[in-house]
Amino acid sequence: MFFACVALLGIVANTRAADAVTISIACSGVGQELEFCKGAAEAWARKTGHALKIVTPPNDASERLALYQQLLSARSEKIDVLQVDVIWPGLLGSYLLDLRPYAKGAEAQHFAGFIANNSSQGRLVAMPWFANAGLLFYRSDLLQKYGQPVPTTWGELTASARTIQDGERALGNERMWGYVWQGRAYEGLSCNALEWVASHDGGAIVEADGRISINNPRAVLALQAASAWVGSISPTAVLNYAEEESRGVFQAGNAVFMRNWPYAWALAQAEGSVIRGKVGVAVLPKGGGAGRHAATLGGESLAVSKYSQHPAAAADLVLYMTSAGVQKDRALRGSFNPTIAALYQDAEILQANPFMGELLATFTNALARPTTVTGTRYNQVSHHFWNAAHDTLSAKATAEQALARLEQSLKRISRRGTWR
Ligand code: GLC
Repeated sequence: MFFACVALLGIVANTRAADAVTISIACSGVGQELEFCKGAAEAWARKTGHALKIVTPPNDASERLALYQQLLSARSEKIDVLQVDVIWPGLLGSYLLDLRPYAKGAEAQHFAGFIANNSSQGRLVAMPWFANAGLLFYRSDLLQKYGQPVPTTWGELTASARTIQDGERALGNERMWGYVWQGRAYEGLSCNALEWVASHDGGAIVEADGRISINNPRAVLALQAASAWVGSISPTAVLNYAEEESRGVFQAGNAVFMRNWPYAWALAQAEGSVIRGKVGVAVLPKGGGAGRHAATLGGESLAVSKYSQHPAAAADLVLYMTSAGVQKDRALRGSFNPTIAALYQDAEILQANPFMGELLATFTNALARPTTVTGTRYNQVSHHFWNAAHDTLSAKATAEQALARLEQSLKRISRRGTWR
């Protein structure tokens, strides 16, 4: 099963050091993630004389979690270092090594909130690697051509997307779509749907005090607005899109707007990209009335499995990969947002990624998923939430029906409102 799910990408054999060991690292392959992970890990292997095995778990965050849970509960030694989503320290923390003794204070450079997120009962179970927040990517050339401003509400986005989609199709681009996003039934849909709900002032699914708030009229409006996009300004296939499928459409020049994470910027601006110089980045729109701008907080860390046979070398790799030097390189060439506060003052980084400075507040105020309050039950909560959203988007249920059912399921999962 393990080898069916992962691809062995490269083994750097280097036996310079007498105590050289082989460290296996699992990093995701979304966009350029794998290339950057591999590059930095290989640099570490050359520096230290250790050998390396790069494994690629599935890109889909929910499938990756399932694989990690399977390996860790089987006490597998096959992965030493794991890429860990910002929502997983609570779920996986007991399987991960405390990195504090190895970090020797390096953690102080990182955003305090990220370190708190990665700490579980006083143990630092993962080192922050890059930060994510949901962003709106738009085609600045097309907005200009049609005299449209950057939308600040979902209503404006919908109207602009429609105008430009119709106009471009009439001019011969039959494949043009207004808006692409992540609508597959997985964690990425939970991120999108949380943004819709919060931007309509419909709460955060489960509030910090444990109250299940999702079954409310503002959340209904939010899901209805998104459902109306499907088959209209968004292809029906969006119901099966994760990050890379939506980027594929935008990158090919066939979408006006896209919701995605920062990594999409460097690829849009890459040499040879057909949309190079034609893309802008903005905060995601707000709902009408009491709405506000909302971006889901994402991000990734690196952790060491408690079952690693080589904890010291594995921790050394993690500290190298998350260091300021490597984070700067990743920001410059891959538009991965650093987790080290000082790097947001680095002129080269800000020049390569203007949005990192202009939208700094979007990152610092990004909306956390309700992991703290739901604890080890977060994945179940999210699973029910993305299914409710998917049922609504695919017209299997009305928003009212889906949210009423979701509320019942969450009550059951929480044992009537007590999450702990
Ligand atoms: C990105 C984010 C992560 C989120 C995932 C959803 O990988 O970093 O936090 O859960 O996307 O697809």
